[in-house]
Amino acid sequence: MTARIPYLNARLQGYTSTIFSEMSALAVATGSINLGQGFPDTDGPDLIKRSAIRAIEDGHNQYPPLNGISELRSAIASHHKRHNGLDFDPVTEILVTAGATEAIASCLLSLCETGDEVVMFEPYYDSYAACTAMAGAQRRTVPLRAPDWSFEPEALENAITNRTRLILVNTPHNPTGKVFSLAELQVIADVARRHDLIVVTDEVYEHLVYESPHVSLASLPGMAERTITISSAAKTFSVTGWKVGWACARPELIAAIRSAKQFLTYVNAAPFQYAIAEGLNQCDDYLVEATALLREKRDLLAAGLETAGFKVLPSHGTFFLTTDITPLSDEDGHTFCRELAQRCGVVAIPSSAFYDDKASGWHFVRWMFSKRREVLEEAVERLGRRQ
Ligand SMILES: Cc1ncc(COP(=O)(O)O)c(C=O)c1O
Repeated sequence: MTARIPYLNARLQGYTSTIFSEMSALAVATGSINLGQGFPDTDGPDLIKRSAIRAIEDGHNQYPPLNGISELRSAIASHHKRHNGLDFDPVTEILVTAGATEAIASCLLSLCETGDEVVMFEPYYDSYAACTAMAGAQRRTVPLRAPDWSFEPEALENAITNRTRLILVNTPHNPTGKVFSLAELQVIADVARRHDLIVVTDEVYEHLVYESPHVSLASLPGMAERTITISSAAKTFSVTGWKVGWACARPELIAAIRSAKQFLTYVNAAPFQYAIAEGLNQCDDYLVEATALLREKRDLLAAGLETAGFKVLPSHGTFFLTTDITPLSDEDGHTFCRELAQRCGVVAIPSSAFYDDKASGWHFVRWMFSKRREVLEEAVERLGRRQ
């Protein structure tokens, strides 16, 4: 539970601090290698960095159009067509946002009435719960069960009530590294169609898949008209600080989301929008190479954690993997992570932060592997000295 803040409204009292700030501060205080928070330690392709500098020098420094610059919307449309088989009209069906975070917030704030319910899979990315609360909606969770993080179709069906407004899906999935299978996506699509629900799908890790190609939920039959597909440049191009994301959906849904978005940030990141447009158009080869490199890093960290005595659960996407700490400790993940920083100088995130049902996540810890090879090797070496 987070500390109570006097003037804060009741909706946000449960969200006053995050485990990421706590663990990142601990990493600094203990001189630890930070494998907690989700940002890479190298930047994306030079091409997009040069493009951003050029855009600033060329004077693209004032408010861009509300929907995003047309060059970026066209690039997003052709990227979605090429990679995910999705058709979006760049004029009416694409909205550029301040990262995926703003796209998610805009969906929840614009689509939910007070008291509506939002169904999400647990563990879940932390902004889902906070934004659901800000929207005055209630969350209902469907458990993903280790080791493969599968869900019971009945559990999803049972989570739907007459107050359900939308289902929130995240594939590839943070924190587990799960990639929802086609069969699982079909179950979700079937439930959404039968109950006439909107689906918001967060696909920010769409290019970080290691064993099978990414499948967009909107590509399934009957889903294009009810799905909002969200993505972001942050993870695709390792530029988490640029905050350029996008939401793609049918015009009526985009119009609704835009109504919230225009009063959150209105617009953002004008010069970076030019750079990401260039990246989406020209960096397909970079994406393949970056994914191959990340796959090697995942394997390096997984092997090191296994040697150090952790039970490593499979990760098929994102730059996270999860370990079960029970072979090493009877303590909960939070206590374990605090001690690990002190004893080994490595920081990870207790997965209980991503659960309502803390008991289900108490013995899992999340590790982030988008770090330079030598950093991961040093972390593995330090973990080996734990005993
Ligand atoms: C699942 C998921 N969605 C959204 C985001 C936020 O993306 P952005 O930085 O584009 O706002 C993250 C960042 O960690 C994430 O893991």
